Amino acid sequence: MEIINRPQRMMSAMKKLRQENKVLALIPTMGALHEGHMSLVKKARQMADIVVVSIFVNPTQFNEEADLEKYPRDLTADAALLADFQVDFIYAPDSSDIYGEGFSTFVTVDEVSDKLEGASRPGHFRGVATIVTILLNTIRPDFAYFGQKDAQQVAVIKRLTEDLAIDTEIVVMPIVREDNGLARSSRNERLTKKQRNAASIIYASLLKAQNAVENGELNASELTEMVRKNIESEPLAATDYIAVVDNETLEPIEKIGDSPVLVAVAVRFGEIRLIDNIILEKKASSGI
Ligand code: PAF
Repeated sequence: MEIINRPQRMMSAMKKLRQENKVLALIPTMGALHEGHMSLVKKARQMADIVVVSIFVNPTQFNEEADLEKYPRDLTADAALLADFQVDFIYAPDSSDIYGEGFSTFVTVDEVSDKLEGASRPGHFRGVATIVTILLNTIRPDFAYFGQKDAQQVAVIKRLTEDLAIDTEIVVMPIVREDNGLARSSRNERLTKKQRNAASIIYASLLKAQNAVENGELNASELTEMVRKNIESEPLAATDYIAVVDNETLEPIEKIGDSPVLVAVAVRFGEIRLIDNIILEKKASSGI
C-alpha cells in the first residue's frame, strides 16, 4: 500500500494504471474509518483491480470552524486498518494542495442540496460536491463508493456526475448497523451508554414505517406521523426532521407511487445529532 500526498503524483500513478487497462475504484473518506467504510472497501476490492481510499478532512463542507478543528484525524490508525483490507493507495492530500492560492471554482448542485441536511448546514453540499468533483477528476476511477447512510450526499453526487458527464459509476452500499439497529457513525462514540441504547428507537421506527407500507399504507403524512410518534415515545430523543421524499429528487411526496421513496430522519440525543433513513417501495418494499 502506498500513501500519496501530492495531487500531481496521484494523477500520474492513476494515468499509468489506466494505460495498463486496470479497473480503478475510489472510496472518498474523511478518515476516522469504521465498519461502514470497510463495507465500501470490501465491495471495491471485489469489483476493481486497484483500490484507492482518499482521506481528506474537507474544510469547505464544515459550517463551524470548531467542528473542523475537532474532527478526529489519525492517519496511522486509518492506514493500519486499510492495509488489512488490501487497499493499494491512500490519497491524503494537504488542504493547501487542494485549495491552493487563488482557488475560486465551486460546484453547486441546485435543488437537491437545499433541503433536509442542507437546510441546517448552508454550503455543506457545495463543499461536498466540490471536493468529490476534484477527487473524481484527480483519480478518474471507474467506480466510486458511498454509503446509503448519507442519502442526501448520494443524491447530490449522482446528480453531479450525471450533469457534469463524469465517467464514474457511483456505487451505493447499504447502511451498516450496530446490533441494536443504530446506523454506524463515528458520532455514536460520543453518545452515553443510555443514549446509545435509546437511539435504537430510530431504526425501529423506520422499520415500523416499512411494515406499514407492506400492509398498504401509502400516505406520506400518515407515515411521517407514525415515525414521529414512535421516535418521540423515547424521552431522550428530540426529532429534528422526518421527511418522506422522492429518493432521487428529495422532493416531498404525498403518496407512495411507483418510484422508490426515502424516509429520512434527523434526531438529537443530547448534543449529538443522528441521521438515518430507509428506502420504501410500493410493492416488494425493501429496507437498506
Ligand atoms: O462522506 C464523507 O466522508 C465526505 O462527505 C466525503 C464524501 C468524503 C467528501 O468529503
